[in-house]
Amino acid sequence: MSDLKGLVLAGGTGTRLRPITHTSAKQLVPLANKPILFYGLESLAAAGVKEVGVIVGDTREEVMAAVGDGSAFGLRITYIPQDKPLGLAHCVLIARDFLGESDFVMFLGDNLVKEGISEFAAQFRARDGGTAAEILLAKVPDPHRFGVAELDGDGAVRALVEKPKVPPSDLALVGVYFFDSTIHQAVASIRPSGRGELEITDAVQWLIDNGYRVSSRQITGYWKDLGQPEALLEGNRLVLEDVEVRLDGQIDSESAIEGRVVVERGSMIVRSKVRGPAVIGAGTVIEDSYVGPFTSIGPGCTLKSCEIENSIVLEGSRVIDAGRLEGSILGKQALVSRRQLKPRANRLVIGDHSIVELP
Ligand code: G1P
Repeated sequence: MSDLKGLVLAGGTGTRLRPITHTSAKQLVPLANKPILFYGLESLAAAGVKEVGVIVGDTREEVMAAVGDGSAFGLRITYIPQDKPLGLAHCVLIARDFLGESDFVMFLGDNLVKEGISEFAAQFRARDGGTAAEILLAKVPDPHRFGVAELDGDGAVRALVEKPKVPPSDLALVGVYFFDSTIHQAVASIRPSGRGELEITDAVQWLIDNGYRVSSRQITGYWKDLGQPEALLEGNRLVLEDVEVRLDGQIDSESAIEGRVVVERGSMIVRSKVRGPAVIGAGTVIEDSYVGPFTSIGPGCTLKSCEIENSIVLEGSRVIDAGRLEGSILGKQALVSRRQLKPRANRLVIGDHSIVELP
């Protein structure tokens, strides 16, 4: 089963997820308290992939510290530095030595495929001789933000366009691509696009234009970092739909836990209600509060006298006597509290690209 290598893309600047990505690689932004990237690495391991090349850019130190040598995932990881974000096909170019002549699956580290990729990997391994690539597609409401596919009747790909103004279909290219070694010829033959990048979409189109078959499969349960805070909350909800109850922290007798909730070790729930699906990170204290469905509270947080629902709170943040928060995203070490001194005005110290919506 170790025939298929993995190529995971974890570079890029993450402008779409600002301000959270001012201090964190976009692939490490957590969904249900786990970095987006870890879901991808787990899917690769589950699909029988053993050797993975990880492309890293400016955020390499943070990504390398989080992922390590890959042994936590059952993978062997080789880091491949990319000095500038010159495109997805450029990543294949610089991974040439690592990939050799192997078949491989390229996985964009900011994409989440809920069903995993095991079935698709098995289909690709069992393909007939003429197929050089297999792509995954998902029906999306906003195809102009993606690469978009046009299909023949039998699911073969006829054409691909990158972020078209007028999309030929609603089938977006998911950031998971299966290739044989023919792709190396393709990435060496294409020219940079209008945005100055070597596009993988153009490389796949090169395969089609040169008579190779590119097959496609449709998936559901797809998410990527689309930039609006609402999209991050949606990704969080998608992952939380699957959590199972695990109560390892301390829950006092005046608290109630309803539905599927994870309470990590070392956390304390005091005189509070937590209604799942929700996760509460290690060492977090929740007092006199309500945590509602589809909320992820990171490790080392403090929530006192507040209500929060459909939200993400990252590591080390505090929400104290802050009323009710909904649809909110708090970065690391943030503080939201009620001001005790006069005048009782809103007082904000917020970072670049932050968003505050007052009632
Ligand atoms: C890239 C690809 C695009 C694909 C998307 C999936 O876009 O160019 O075809 O649909 O990944 O994540 P980017 O995210 O680099 O804008």
